[in-house]
Amino acid sequence: MGTTGQRVVVITGASSGIGRETARQFAAQGAAVVLAARGKPALQATAEEVTRAGGTALVMPTDVAVWPQVQHLAQAARERFGRIDVWVNNAAVSGYGELNTLPVEAIDRILDVDLRGQVYGVKAVLPILREQGHGTIIGVSSGLGVRAVPLMIPYCIAKSGVNALYEGLRLEERHAKSGVRVTTILPASIDTPFYDSAASWMGVRPAPIPPVYRPRAVAEAIVFAADHPRRDIYIGAAAQLAMLQRLSPALTDRLLAVGGQVFGRQQRNEPDRGQSNLTEPTPSSGAVDGGVVRFALPRSRWTRLVGSHPALARSAAIASAGTLGWRLAHRRPARLR
Ligand SMILES: NC(=O)c1ccc[n+]([C@@H]2O[C@H](COP(=O)([O-])OP(=O)(O)OC[C@H]3O[C@@H](n4cnc5c(N)ncnc54)[C@H](OP(=O)(O)O)[C@@H]3O)[C@@H](O)[C@H]2O)c1
Repeated sequence: MGTTGQRVVVITGASSGIGRETARQFAAQGAAVVLAARGKPALQATAEEVTRAGGTALVMPTDVAVWPQVQHLAQAARERFGRIDVWVNNAAVSGYGELNTLPVEAIDRILDVDLRGQVYGVKAVLPILREQGHGTIIGVSSGLGVRAVPLMIPYCIAKSGVNALYEGLRLEERHAKSGVRVTTILPASIDTPFYDSAASWMGVRPAPIPPVYRPRAVAEAIVFAADHPRRDIYIGAAAQLAMLQRLSPALTDRLLAVGGQVFGRQQRNEPDRGQSNLTEPTPSSGAVDGGVVRFALPRSRWTRLVGSHPALARSAAIASAGTLGWRLAHRRPARLR
């Protein structure tokens, strides 16, 4: 049983990257953190970090694509600590390559983990939060859920679905006056082990599209959202990408495709050695930072100045909508006869 007043947080994908840094940050506030992922050595290592940071850890080996395991995760968390305050749906995998070359099994698995896994998380925790009359669900999506790119189409489809999940859920919970709050986190590229774990059918290792930020920029936004309900929080350049997409999808197509850069930027000059965490976890004890780029930005200025302030974020959206309106008013589209 958790100490009364101790916040109880469940994090999926807690053993690496963003999830692991989020676990550390909640632990530093004295939280009880339920750590879910598949690989036991990395979960154990994360649990030690949580304890060292001042939190209480519960290790729960879980595959988020398997419904009974996710259901068990929620029930075990509540049994151990008496309630759940925050549920962070964060686990994800990816596979890189043109849709033409990706095996159907890989596509299915990405959709199962990245989309179905988040739906399962919501389904498992929602009855508990509704019964409590309070709780926060935080879904980690991606800027690529707003604007898809080539070479990781199944991942983009999953993240776009995740955005739909939370948009609908937010309204349902508001209508039901359930006390359940829903925040979507939309990061840009983050330097985590994600790029070394992802499967590749490109012949080379994948790379993050710059600019790249450190995992703590996202973890800080997640911890912030636990105390300050927000509709969504963009991290870094994901916000500009989303605004550009709203402004003109065709222009965004053109900018991304200039010189084939959206393809080149996603490829490392390093041959692929068949790494993949699609069906099996990475056997190592894991890490927060990926070390894929020489320099990752420690924080997102956008998130600190605008992203976490609803009024400013609204103004930015209105400004982009205004520009869009101007564009629509001044264009002469061809008409269907
Ligand atoms: N890195 C980026 O550039 C970036 C950008 C935008 C959004 N995001 C999002 O941020 C979130 C975290 O990504 P990250 O960069 O921190 O990746 P990461 O370092 O690869 O961590 C992924 C985590 O998910 C777990 N996981 C994978 N498959 C799982 C499954 N079937 N069941 C349970 N857990 C599973 C992994 O542990 P096991 O393998 O042991 O299960 C690991 O703990 C993801 O939702 C990702 O889409 C990342």
